[in-house]
Amino acid sequence: MLPLQEDMRRQAQSWFGPRARRHHMKSLTSRAPRVSKENNDNSRNYYRQNKHRSASIASYTRHNTMSEPKVIIVTGGSKGIGLAVVQDLLKASHKVVLVARTPVSELAKDYPGQVTFLAADMTVSDLALISYGKLDGVVVNHGVLTPITRLADASIEDWKSHYDVNVFSALSIVKEAIPHLRATKGKIIFVSSGAAIKAYAAWGAYGSSKAALNSICRHVAVEEPDITAVAVSPGRVDTDMQKELREKGQGVMSDKEYADFVSAFEEGQLNKPEWPAQVIAKLSLDAKSDLSGKYVAWNGPEVAGYRK
Ligand SMILES: NC(=O)c1ccc[n+]([C@@H]2O[C@H](COP(=O)([O-])OP(=O)(O)OC[C@H]3O[C@@H](n4cnc5c(N)ncnc54)[C@H](OP(=O)(O)O)[C@@H]3O)[C@@H](O)[C@H]2O)c1
Repeated sequence: MLPLQEDMRRQAQSWFGPRARRHHMKSLTSRAPRVSKENNDNSRNYYRQNKHRSASIASYTRHNTMSEPKVIIVTGGSKGIGLAVVQDLLKASHKVVLVARTPVSELAKDYPGQVTFLAADMTVSDLALISYGKLDGVVVNHGVLTPITRLADASIEDWKSHYDVNVFSALSIVKEAIPHLRATKGKIIFVSSGAAIKAYAAWGAYGSSKAALNSICRHVAVEEPDITAVAVSPGRVDTDMQKELREKGQGVMSDKEYADFVSAFEEGQLNKPEWPAQVIAKLSLDAKSDLSGKYVAWNGPEVAGYRK
């Protein structure tokens, strides 16, 4: 286990343990974990770059401020797709519990009273549900791509660590959220991947973890009639995860697939995080029950009504 993860596990256990549960958890920004400067800078730069949104988003915001604010947990909300989901929800006056290891302190300043930061390593299995007295939705967005290795070279320990983050933490938060979501007829949106249904050489851990999320989504649908669960593939998105793929995939992935990802980036063909994020945010508020259990592409026909 990485030192940061161990540090976070201990810190999070003290925050989420029985003693912590007795205290109402307020914004944890001031108690944020140690993070690298690079991570902080990335989050801040990303936030600044995305501060100003399009006119269409502004009109969506005006529309949604008319309805009662909802409370949504977004995991992996510190950057990339998750941060864009968080921003969409906050702009529409909803309340967000942002779960990640890296704090995004600007959000608490810009949206006072609307955002609670929960600094957590998602490997903590007994993650407690912290909310504003109710819970309307969970966006299970956090995730890692590594290890990028072929099966013949796989480290079982690395796969277990990967599954802790991508699968067991998701299961943990879903399990804890279910009783609260039954009460509100809430939504669970899993951020899945095309890799859940297509094999890319050296992506076995990632692809199989996303396939597991799709299956968990289908099981929520059959077991919980009052909850709507949807797995969404965001397409190829220009985030740190794609950067990591370009940095670590060469010589391990197939040459053709690696070159395809690199050229998609160089030719500006990657999705902006805001595109899938607005669909994911809208689904977390309003997904209709006929979508429950489905795996959909962010730009697919099933969710055309959720795109602006
Ligand atoms: N980018 C793509 O092309 C693409 C394609 C298909 C699917 N997806 C999926 O989209 C989701 C978001 O990915 P992204 O592209 O936005 O990647 P990203 O920019 O790397 O963001 C990943 C997020 O997950 C969080 N995270 C990672 N490990 C964590 C841990 N151990 N504990 C808590 N939080 C953790 C990160 O927060 P901290 O580092 O602050 O903890 C960050 O907020 C992922 O589930 C990914 O699999 C992405």
